[in-house]
Amino acid sequence: MKFFADTADTAEIAELAATGLLDGVTTNPSLIAKSGRDIIEVTREICGLTDGPVSAEVIALDHAGMMREAEILRKIADNVCVKVPLTMDGLKTCKALTSDGTMVNVTLCFSANQALLAAKAGASFVSPFVGRHDDNGFDGMQLISDIRLIYDNYDFQTEILVASIRHGLHVLEAAKIGADVITAPPAVIKGLVKHVLTDKGVEGFLADWAKTGQTI
Ligand code: G3P
Repeated sequence: MKFFADTADTAEIAELAATGLLDGVTTNPSLIAKSGRDIIEVTREICGLTDGPVSAEVIALDHAGMMREAEILRKIADNVCVKVPLTMDGLKTCKALTSDGTMVNVTLCFSANQALLAAKAGASFVSPFVGRHDDNGFDGMQLISDIRLIYDNYDFQTEILVASIRHGLHVLEAAKIGADVITAPPAVIKGLVKHVLTDKGVEGFLADWAKTGQTI
């Protein structure tokens, strides 16, 4: 399973990249706004921090506008993945861009039928938002399960990129279902390493080791 960082904070991305656990980055207009930086400049910097795909989202709602913005975004670096919303214009844009060899992440997916359309449009990634799905009284992980089943039924190559991840349980469930990628805030990814018994174990080993008076 690939791990993407869902942030435009370059310090956080650099820290995760240094662990060797980072496979890519996703951004969206809200995350760019939060960074307070210019989209082109920050996306270029992020693309230099990872060899993996870096999703940069279009703002336009119409196909022509999306194509115009995609042209600017994909020129930033070879590893830019253009992100488009799951609308008819977004799907049309996805088809045009992927036919041309550009990576596309179709975002804001909230149903398995939408994911089916994204795959038919040749999407490199589809982003179902599990956290927001849960927030609205739906079962986010059931959505991932349904998409996995449908993609496997037809051997679609579109990767399921589980987004809007809020905690480790989302990561665990996504892995059990066989999702291809999760994108999560760096704090959630870093939190996966924590276990009270690991800390307690290290503490115990160090205490016993101190009694030996040895060094390695
Ligand atoms: O990148 C899109 C997605 O991960 C947003 O997450 O927490 O704003 O629902 P959230």
